[in-house]
Formats: sequence, C-alpha cells, structure tokens
Amino acid sequence: MTVTTEDVAWADAWQDSWDRQQEGFMPERPARIDALVDLVEASSSISSPVGRPAPLVLDLACGTGSITRRLLERVPTARSIAVDIDPALLAIAQASLGSDDRVQLVTANLLDPDWPAALPATSFDAVVTATALHWLPEAALRRLYADLARLARPGGVVGNADAMANPELPQLGNALEAVEAGLRDRVRADGRPGWEEWWDLAAADPVLADAVEERRRFFGGNHPAEFDPPADWHVRALRDAGFSEAGVAYRWGNGALVAAVR
Ligand SMILES: C[S@@+](CC[C@H](N)C(=O)[O-])C[C@H]1O[C@@H](n2cnc3c(N)ncnc32)[C@H](O)[C@@H]1O
Repeated sequence: MTVTTEDVAWADAWQDSWDRQQEGFMPERPARIDALVDLVEASSSISSPVGRPAPLVLDLACGTGSITRRLLERVPTARSIAVDIDPALLAIAQASLGSDDRVQLVTANLLDPDWPAALPATSFDAVVTATALHWLPEAALRRLYADLARLARPGGVVGNADAMANPELPQLGNALEAVEAGLRDRVRADGRPGWEEWWDLAAADPVLADAVEERRRFFGGNHPAEFDPPADWHVRALRDAGFSEAGVAYRWGNGALVAAVR
C-alpha cells in the first residue's frame, strides 16, 4: 500500500484523537508509555546471546501504534513488529507508520493459540503492551504469557501496563479510585470523546466505517468482557510462564507496569 501525504494528515488527526480519548481514561498514559520504552532501553543492558545492535520490539495489541511511535522517537534504531486484530485501528497505524521500514504491522488474534505463527520473527529483545491484556480471559492470558516466554530472547524483557490493583494497599487503592476519577473528570472537561463516542466518530468516517463494523462483529460490540486481576496475579503468572524474574516496575495509583525478564 502506498501512503500519501493526505493519508498521513488523516492518520495524524486520528492518532491525536485516539491518544486524547485514551488519556481521558488515563491522564498518566504518556508516562506509562515512556516507562515501557524505558524497559526497551534497559533490555539492551541485559546480556544477549543474539547480540543485536538495535532492539527488536513486539508491540502487542498495538492499536494505532502509540507505543511504537514513542519508541521510534526515543530509540530511532529500534524496529517494531506491531500486532493487533482491530482493522480500524490498524488502518490508522498503517497510514501513519506503514511507510516506515522499521515497522511491520501484523493482523493476529491473540485468542488464537497459533497467533505467533503470524509474526515475521521468533525472538524479541522486548515485548511491550498497554491497556490491552485485560481484554483476554484468564486462560488465554496465561497461555499468552507462556508464548511471550518463548518469544522473548534470553535476557529479553516483557512489560504489561494496565489497570492492576495494588494488593499491598487495598484501602488506599480504593480511596485513590475517587481521586483518579476526579483527575479524569478534569481532563475530560474539555469535551474530548469517551470510548463509545470515539467509536461512533470512527464509524462516521467513510474510510473507517467498514472496519469499525468488522471490529464490532469481532468483539461483539465496542469492548469484550474484562479480566483485570491485581498486579500480584500477573507477577505470579509471569513466573509460572517461565520468566526468571517478574515484578511491578512502575505504579500510578491503580495502574501498574508489571515487567518480567526471561
Ligand atoms: C485500549 S486498546 C490499547 C491499544 C494500544 N496498546 C494503546 O495503548 O493505545 C486495546 C487493544 O487491544 C486489542 N486487542 C484486544 N483483544 C485482542 C485480540 N484478541 N487480539 C489482538 N488484539 C486485541 C484491541 O484491538 C485494541 O487495539
């Protein structure tokens, strides 16, 4: 597919709109994304028998590619394989990143146990994902973590940033929910679209309309059921999956970045 200047301007507007919508739910989202890029940078200091000069990154459930875009700003030598199932978000990603030879966009369903077969590589320095794995049921998430333990190179790093309660501070975590809701209300006071409104706007764009219809069929609406266990569940599941270390690398109230090293 040839990407034109008009495609890029169109995609930039949708990228901006997606990021604003997501930041309406997570005002600290830019910090979450930067923390994931920190992991990628750190992975180069953990011994690699592969000895790659530049990190090869898997951006899992990439959406429009927000993490990949930030990654390439901070680590211009990085390469990213960005995977998602959503044809509308991938269309936006394709229009803004499709001409960049450091990026490969892949359509794959993470619920399909064979999803790694769709990847053009079998070993990654880092796997990063944000606000996405709570879309998978428990059994699928455990299987996915086992897949990631095979896909990360020895010494490779995995980071999952998502809503994850803090089991060590349950009362404070509950109290922080009200504070976080207040922050979200203040950010959204500028009238930015929420989740449902954003998808209605996308459905009204003739370029995206068919893709939005397709993703609504796939997900049975705008969003599937959620599985969002606390951070210690993820830490245990990553260790069970075979990672040599796992823990909370960063926390923002009731959101956390759980990381693991193979
Ligand atoms: C809230 S979005 C986050 C996207 C991106 N990581 C970001 O931070 O902007 C959740 C993403 O998970 C993707 N996703 C959910 N279930 C999936 C599945 N079974 N296979 C592949 N991607 C999936 C969705 O399509 C969507 O792009």
